[in-house]
Amino acid sequence: MQIARTVAELRQQLGPFNHAAFVPTMGNLHDGHLALVRQAKPLGDVLVASIFVNRLQFLPHEDFDTYPRTWDSDCERLEAAGCNIVFAPSEKELYPEPQTFKVHPPAELADILEGHFRPGFFVGVCTVVMKLFACVQPRVAVFGQKDYQQLMVIRRMAQQFALPIDVVGGPTLRAADGLALSSRNGYLSESERTEAVQLSLALKTMADALRAGATDIAALEAQAMQALTARGWQPDYLVARRRYDLQAPQAGDALVVLAAAKLGKTRLIDNLEV
Ligand code: PAJ
Repeated sequence: MQIARTVAELRQQLGPFNHAAFVPTMGNLHDGHLALVRQAKPLGDVLVASIFVNRLQFLPHEDFDTYPRTWDSDCERLEAAGCNIVFAPSEKELYPEPQTFKVHPPAELADILEGHFRPGFFVGVCTVVMKLFACVQPRVAVFGQKDYQQLMVIRRMAQQFALPIDVVGGPTLRAADGLALSSRNGYLSESERTEAVQLSLALKTMADALRAGATDIAALEAQAMQALTARGWQPDYLVARRRYDLQAPQAGDALVVLAAAKLGKTRLIDNLEV
């Protein structure tokens, strides 16, 4: 496995290839990330993963400084999963001057849900992903469904800018109890870790009710919010939306249930297609 610290090194390492498959990450890799690498591997003639903690997508009060950086174990795990090139630029390399050109996704898609609670988040994500795409020039890029709205935003960005990149979604990998794997799970205390599964259970309860024919979505959402709040969570949202554009559903729409909630100081997100 090769490591590229600069765009020039990356370009040189990519020289012999013309069909790169790409998995962007912020490091602190877990089995969910590695599953994306394994999924992406046969989709290209070279597998590139990036590790870059992107300051642009963190709000001032968020965990940019404390976001776990686990370089050695990330590299070991990437190599074992079949990664060929790790692109790990410094901030100075990726943002040599302030990044004043930015990609602004449409409000109706990016200012709702995560974008509502983390203003500017998807501007930061789109801007860095566009830049990483420009560096790696992949033909295929794989993103996790764990970040459902992110996958949707990136997919639309690629479509609308006619980027020659297939944006592929990968299933959410979960711990044995159902908690979606996340770099932020490491922030949970032992008792919080035991409680954390309740987020996926709340989504499952909503999804089961919808599958069984429940139609009062507002009531289901309110019940789920109350149940989590009563257990000590601070939910941001727990909603059923149509998959297509994450707007309020109409009868017959294919649905996804999505949630974000804080447990202690840790904010977790998850979703389930109904
Ligand atoms: P990060 O949170 O490191 O996630 C990298 C990729 O792993 C994303 O596509 C995410 O959806 C996926 N992922 C996370 N947990 C997963 C799980 N349990 N199962 C499957 N896939 C999972 O998402 C980002 O980084 C950043 O926003 C990034 C796209 C790299 C831009 O900075």
